[in-house]
Amino acid sequence: MWRLGDRKSSPAGAVATVTVGGPFLLTDQNGKARSDKDFRGHWVLLYFGYTYCPDVCPTTLALMSSTLDKLGADSGRIIPVFITVDPARDTPPVLKSYLAAFGPRFVGLTGKPSEIANVAHAYRVYYKQQPLQGGTYSVDHSSAIYLLDPNGNFVKAYDEQSGAAAIANDLRKQF
Ligand code: NI
Repeated sequence: MWRLGDRKSSPAGAVATVTVGGPFLLTDQNGKARSDKDFRGHWVLLYFGYTYCPDVCPTTLALMSSTLDKLGADSGRIIPVFITVDPARDTPPVLKSYLAAFGPRFVGLTGKPSEIANVAHAYRVYYKQQPLQGGTYSVDHSSAIYLLDPNGNFVKAYDEQSGAAAIANDLRKQF
């Protein structure tokens, strides 16, 4: 089993870095097209989830929000981004009202199912619908907060169990 950012040895003994991330073109909570290039010049904290998530997503978005609070003036260097893994339900208006609870700076992104599948694959994000009683569903998904540098390159992933102070301190070291 590999972890994000780990190096993998090939059978020949050469070392290859696992590639995480890649270009995307999605739609934000205001219905505007947004690509990865729009975030160049800023650090990005990126999280994949869905607005109907009962626990992990709201907790993680609150963590991202308090991390920005702890950074004070430095928080302006970061753009927090939420990409849905449930595009059927997470339309731009749904994302907009949901993200308002976590502060004004979040960018929420949705898209066609194929677009979401592509970006999730690029970031090694697992997600799968699980049927619930009553014809509805939940979505199992992996949970990590990705840090991208101002060039859009993946730097590392933070565990959502980390505290806001620990993440903020680490971010200061990265800047
Ligand atoms: Ni979730």
